[in-house]
Amino acid sequence: MVLNVNKGMVTIEGTVEWWKAIVESMNDGVLVIDQAGIVRTINPEYTRITGVTPDIIGKPLVSYRPGARLPETLASGKSQVGVYRKTHDREYVVDMAPVVVNDEIVGAVSVCKSLNEVQLLTLELEKQRQKVKELQERMSALHRVRYTFDDIIRAESNMQDIVSIAKKTAATDLPVLIGGESGTGKELFAHAIHHASLRSDKPFIAVNCSAIPSDLIENELFGHFEGVLYSKPVIGKAGLFEMADGGTLFLDEIGDLSLDVQAKLLRVLQEGAIRRVGEVEERRVDVRIIASTHRDLQQLITKGLFRNDLLYRLNTIDLQIPPLRERKKEIPLIAQSLLADRFEVEENVLKFLTQYDWPGNIRELRNVLDYAKCLVDENERISIRHFPDFMQKQHTLLNEEKGILPLHEAVEVAEKQILETSLQSCGPTVGERQEVADLLGISLATLYNKMKKYNIK
Ligand SMILES: Nc1ncnc2c1ncn2[C@@H]1O[C@H](COP(=O)(O)OP(=O)(O)O)[C@@H](O)[C@H]1O
Ligand SMILES: [Mg+2]
Repeated sequence: MVLNVNKGMVTIEGTVEWWKAIVESMNDGVLVIDQAGIVRTINPEYTRITGVTPDIIGKPLVSYRPGARLPETLASGKSQVGVYRKTHDREYVVDMAPVVVNDEIVGAVSVCKSLNEVQLLTLELEKQRQKVKELQERMSALHRVRYTFDDIIRAESNMQDIVSIAKKTAATDLPVLIGGESGTGKELFAHAIHHASLRSDKPFIAVNCSAIPSDLIENELFGHFEGVLYSKPVIGKAGLFEMADGGTLFLDEIGDLSLDVQAKLLRVLQEGAIRRVGEVEERRVDVRIIASTHRDLQQLITKGLFRNDLLYRLNTIDLQIPPLRERKKEIPLIAQSLLADRFEVEENVLKFLTQYDWPGNIRELRNVLDYAKCLVDENERISIRHFPDFMQKQHTLLNEEKGILPLHEAVEVAEKQILETSLQSCGPTVGERQEVADLLGISLATLYNKMKKYNIK
C-alpha cells in the first residue's frame, strides 16, 4: 500500500478503509472487475438495486451475469453511459468505465442507479407515445377511402359535368356540399374527392349527423375536456375534427343537425379552431369539409330549421347528384358492373331494370341485384322472375299501358298469376297440392318446379 505523506503525516486518504468506506456509502451501486473479469468488489447499494449479493466477489462476472456489458468496456476501453437494464422485476440504468492506471486498462467499473419514479414515468410516457404514434398510423390507414373517381360509373352528360366539377374541387380546400336523393352516390363522390386531393394520405372521417343523438354529437365532433378537475386527472377525448386534422371531414346528412350544433359548427368553420366541450382554450384544426344531405336545405331555412349563414359556409361548391331515373342510360352499365361478369342475364332484363323508377336509386339497384343473384340457380340466367314482386307488378302495368308484351313474357306472367290464385286457397299438404295439380292438368312434380321457378311459397 502506498501511504500519502503530507508534511510528514500519514493521511487517511491513503488507507484502503477510507476508499472502501466511500464506496460503501455511495448512493449509486458500484461493481468493479479486474483485468481478468473477476469481480473484486460490490457495494451494498449495488445489491439493493440489482439483487446481486456479495458472494459474486472473486468470481468471473460473466458466469454470474451472462448478459453483462462490463466486459465489453474492459476489452474496448470505451465507456458506456445510460445503458438501460431490466432483470426480472428490476429496472436500472448503468454507466460503465474502464479503470486506467499508467495507460493500462486494469479493470472496469460499473455504476448503476435505480430508476426513480419520475424516470419510470418518463419511460412509460415514451412507450405510450410510441403506441399513440402506431395507433395514429393505423388510424390513417383505416381511414383511407375506398372509392375513386374511376369507381363512379357514368354515361349521361349531366353526370359527366358533375364529375368534372368534382375533380376540379379536389385540388382545392373549398367546402363542398353534395345534394341528391338517398342512394344516388353522395358518399361515393365524397370519397373520390378526398382520394384525388392532396390530403389523400390523411384521414377521411365520415360522420353521419342523423345517426348520432343530438346530445352526444357535440362531444363526438369537438371532443371533451382533458386536465385536472377537483385535483383528479380527467382523461380527455379527441373529437372527429381533431381526428380528421390534415384530412377531410365528411358531414353526412347535415340537414339533420340541431340548430344548437349548427351554431357551434359555424363558429368552428369561421375560426378554424375547435374548443373541446368543457375547455376554454382553442385548438387549431386544418380540416376540409364535405357535407351532404338528401334534404332541401333552402326549404329547411324557410322553416327556420337550418341556418342560412351555415349554408353559405358549406356550399361554395354545390354538387347536385341527379336521381337514377334521370340517368337511365347508366342503369345497364351499373347493373353489369354489379353483376361482375359472373352472372348472365336474359335480354329483356336490362330493359326491365331501365323501366323501373328506382326510388332508392343505386342503393336499391344493388339490393335488387343481390336478391336476384341469390335466387338464380347455378347455370341459369337471371330473368325477370328473379326480381322482387313489386318490381314485376310495376313492369306488367307499364307494359299493359303500352298494350304490348312479348309473348313469352306474357305467358310467364299469366302462368305465374294462375298458379298464385290456385294455390292461394289450398293448404300446404301434398294431398291438397295434388288436387291443384289435377285441376291444372299437370303433374305434382311440374307444379313444384313451377312454384320454385316463380318463387311461390
Ligand atoms: N355512379 C355510381 N357507380 C357505381 N356505383 C355507385 C354509383 N353511385 C352510387 N353507387 C353505389 O351505390 C351505393 C350507394 O351510394 P352512396 O354513396 O352511399 O349514396 P348516398 O350517400 O347518396 O346515399 C354505394 O354502394 C355506391 O358505391
Ligand atoms: Mg349516404
